[in-house]
Amino acid sequence: MTQGQPNEIDALITRCGTDLREFAHTFRADAFYIPTPQDEETNKFLDLLVNPAIAHSLINAHRDWGKTSWVVTAILQRILYRLANCIMYCSLTEDTATPRTDALKRELERNRLIVDTFGNLRSEKWAQKEWCTIPMVEDGVELHPGTQVVPRGIGQPVRGWLYDNKYRPDYVVVDDIQTRKTVKSKTLRDEAWDWLNGEVLGCFSHRDKLGPKEFPPKLIVIGNMLHEDCVVNRLREEAEKPGSLWGDNYLILPLCDDSLRSRRPEFVSDQKVKRIYQHYKNMGELNTFAQEYQC
Ligand SMILES: Nc1ncnc2c1ncn2[C@@H]1O[C@H](COP(=O)(O)OP(=O)(O)OP(=O)(O)O)[C@@H](O)[C@H]1O
Ligand SMILES: [Mg+2]
Repeated sequence: MTQGQPNEIDALITRCGTDLREFAHTFRADAFYIPTPQDEETNKFLDLLVNPAIAHSLINAHRDWGKTSWVVTAILQRILYRLANCIMYCSLTEDTATPRTDALKRELERNRLIVDTFGNLRSEKWAQKEWCTIPMVEDGVELHPGTQVVPRGIGQPVRGWLYDNKYRPDYVVVDDIQTRKTVKSKTLRDEAWDWLNGEVLGCFSHRDKLGPKEFPPKLIVIGNMLHEDCVVNRLREEAEKPGSLWGDNYLILPLCDDSLRSRRPEFVSDQKVKRIYQHYKNMGELNTFAQEYQC
């Protein structure tokens, strides 16, 4: 955090509760060591992660764009500013999801700036896979129940999940649920698709009226293009249909244009794009390059 007068620091902390970019560069400056560009696409990406009016966000970005760093940071912001009750982080398996949610716990305990600003949020349910932070209580009144964080993998139950017997998942992230290996099998592709549609999309509350301590539910699906029949591509096809759940809330973020010019030179230079392209060309894998980097 920059040096400043106490009221400037308070103003910065307040802004960080609504501005994900500022939050990331203030509280996770070690991970976000490259200034995040202010272009329209990046702004839309950030809005898709945090805007409570958007219930379904779909993001297909190239490999290493920063997808996971950003969703994990958005989860951290939700926890610290009490913006969600029950967060699910879904990946290929529970074993691939758990290291991410464990890293969040470490951040809450060891990031000095976070601890000094927000205090110790560790509850007695900290050692389990599904852990939660302490409630926020003022004058004996519970204002927020604490946030439960749940790692999940394909095939695990999500539908019917209730935190504290009251709260349905309200911030669900589906991050890279397929790999180049699993997309080769039609059975596994169908399994991932059925799980997403049956379990994940079915886990939210559909009530129009929210309870006093509830938040509007939000689902964010992010991933790479791995196969023409992968979940991300099936969702892209759905998103193109009129009246789809995703509406305009989907974003495709390739590494480069058709002339191999970098679309984010702050991160990857034109020369680097050409080197990556050449590497795939030499391996006879230009199809993989087109899928993963040109989306
Ligand atoms: N401003 C920034 N925004 C996002 N990432 C940044 C930024 N500055 C630096 N980085 C770094 O870029 C890397 C992005 O990696 P990350 O795993 O988040 O990407 P990803 O898109 O999820 O990759 P993959 O396609 O492999 O899943 C991280 O090491 C992160 O610290
Ligand atoms: Mg990732």
